[in-house]
Amino acid sequence: MAGIVRSVVTGVGGYLPERVVTNAELSTRVDTTDEWIRERTGIHQRHQAADDQPVSDLAVEAARRALEAAGRTPADVDLIIVATTTPDLTFPAVAAIVQRKLGCPIGIAFDVQAVCSGFVYALSVADGFVARNRAKCALVIGAETMTRLMDWTDRTTCVLFGDGAGAVVLEPGEGQGTTADRGLLGLALRADGTKQDLLYVDGGVSTNRQTGYLRMLGNQVFRHAVVNISEAVTAAAADAGVEVSDVDWFIPHQANQRILEGVAKRLGIDETKVISTVAIHANTSAASIPLALDHGIKDGRIKPGQLLLLEAMGGGLTWGACVLRL
Ligand code: UT7
Repeated sequence: MAGIVRSVVTGVGGYLPERVVTNAELSTRVDTTDEWIRERTGIHQRHQAADDQPVSDLAVEAARRALEAAGRTPADVDLIIVATTTPDLTFPAVAAIVQRKLGCPIGIAFDVQAVCSGFVYALSVADGFVARNRAKCALVIGAETMTRLMDWTDRTTCVLFGDGAGAVVLEPGEGQGTTADRGLLGLALRADGTKQDLLYVDGGVSTNRQTGYLRMLGNQVFRHAVVNISEAVTAAAADAGVEVSDVDWFIPHQANQRILEGVAKRLGIDETKVISTVAIHANTSAASIPLALDHGIKDGRIKPGQLLLLEAMGGGLTWGACVLRL
């Protein structure tokens, strides 16, 4: 096949706020225990942004690290997409604030809002620019301050989430149109708006002009998660033309260790191929996949040339998966 352009990940970076909140600390604030949280979710701790640290600051730090890993500078960046549900302001987009703070030249900058699936959605949107040579150096960032959306009297939600940001640099790369190419190879994105009541925030500009709090019927979301994610993983692998068993590393959204294990079991994936950071990061929504990717690269497990599968499900409901070769 003739050469084609692929969107290639050339650098990855992550940033976690300094403050760590342990389960033990939370158990002094709400009626919960370290044991319950570990057993039901696998979470041991989460990071929390400082009061004066907006989500754009987290995004900027992750972006700086991704650019450094890619051997690029802010001057090279012509597209910024931030996946977030917790923006600094209703507008401008966090991406435009990141552009200003990083000192990037005039280019394209906007946010994508698909909650926990936001990073997979944002990657697919960025691919629309990069693989058409309409962007030469894209920053795709997942960044969240989920702790700002918590009702700290609701033990069923406040123990689950954390703050952080992860970023990748995407650049066009020449491929042969085969599964050996580096870059984004396959995608499956889904949404089912009829399931809104299972996971939502009870405030917004156009309703009550409040930020609102995250509300979730956790056990019902859980029931949908394993089935939906498994279907999307299978569809993304088929779209890429690979078998699920060909994948070197599964990098899931980190909501619950039991969901990670349920998906792996359903698809016959060896659990040693699943990158899990849920214990140390908790659920950082759109940031969790790039943070897990960064974690797996930093500890030496994920290597250039390997086949990766990213998957997520979240509010909307939205869910999706994508296959890429690093
Ligand atoms: O990222 C977006 C997608 N989100 C998800 O994928 C989250 C999916 N859901 C989950 O991860 C799990 O459903 C949870 C971790 C949220 C809850 O686990 P569960 O095993 O489904 O528990 P449950 O909601 O059925 O609640 C079991 C019990 C209840 O008590 P009763 O009614 O049995 O007396 C809860 O009140 O656990 C109680 N409970 C708690 N106990 C101590 C709920 N939260 C807590 C808590 N500490 N923090």
